[in-house]
Amino acid sequence: MISAETRLCCVIGDPIKHTLSPLMHNAAFEYLGLEFIYVAFRVKADMLKKAVDGMRAFNIKGMNVTIPHKVRVMEYLDVIDEVAREIGAVNTIVNDDGVLKGFNTDGEGALKALKEGGGDPKEKKIVILGAGGAARAVSYFIAREGPSDMVIINRTVEKAVRLARCISEKIGLEVRAKRLTVQNLKDELEDAEILINCTSVGMTPNINETLVPKGLLRGDMIVMDIVYNPVETRLLREAKERGCLTIDGVGMLVYQGAIAFEMWTGVRAPVDVMREVIIKALRGRRL
Ligand code: ATR
Repeated sequence: MISAETRLCCVIGDPIKHTLSPLMHNAAFEYLGLEFIYVAFRVKADMLKKAVDGMRAFNIKGMNVTIPHKVRVMEYLDVIDEVAREIGAVNTIVNDDGVLKGFNTDGEGALKALKEGGGDPKEKKIVILGAGGAARAVSYFIAREGPSDMVIINRTVEKAVRLARCISEKIGLEVRAKRLTVQNLKDELEDAEILINCTSVGMTPNINETLVPKGLLRGDMIVMDIVYNPVETRLLREAKERGCLTIDGVGMLVYQGAIAFEMWTGVRAPVDVMREVIIKALRGRRL
């Protein structure tokens, strides 16, 4: 029931029509009987400031921010959480009595999903594939857990070097960077304990793509993919076939949403309900 008391949350991005966030949050609001609704707005780049002003004008309680606005939106907020500032991107805004505060829940969401899946990064050797926005948030959070070794491998090696240097400076942990080649993967995966794909490789419609030759995956390795569509990427399928413990991208999607949900409502998020609607929706989608 929508009434005069209903609070509004939303996601802004462009494109936005494939987002699963409305489904996930509305299922959670409904399950808990909270008077909230969540909608998606396609916001073009030149309308970003107006969209944030609209959040103030309409007293919208919460906003998620996705591609391409995660970095630029920071200019229009009143307060930026330290973690979001260090990552350099905001994906969640909380309207706290007219004060707009920006956070980044992607990295924490990924870390929760990893730990829940049985992978504690502490004192482990971690290999991160990718050096874009997602890799940035994920590697920052993992680095804070104190891995024994961490290497960022990316097609554009300069981006990996920049990210590794940035994390090393912020966290005080020496992070290495390498170019994406089969030989480098071979060298690094030989003794890696956790591998995380933070690139978009393997995502629908390119479901037959993977960056890692199957033979390089060892059965005692944990393999996580942040791609959630399809739920089982080729990387995860092959990792499973090799005997690895695998963690799919749905966990990160759900947890980054659950952390935002808790900030907006002050109520513990029903993560199982959220996960269930996401999986159902992904199964129903044509790949
Ligand atoms: P996001 O915010 O989702 O991380 P992004 O910032 O565009 O998106 O980063 C995408 C990542 O996937 C990058 O690390 C990119 O590698 P480059 O930095 O070399 O562009 C990686 N990526 C995308 N397609 C790839 C491909 N076909 N092969 C290897 N890496 C790829």
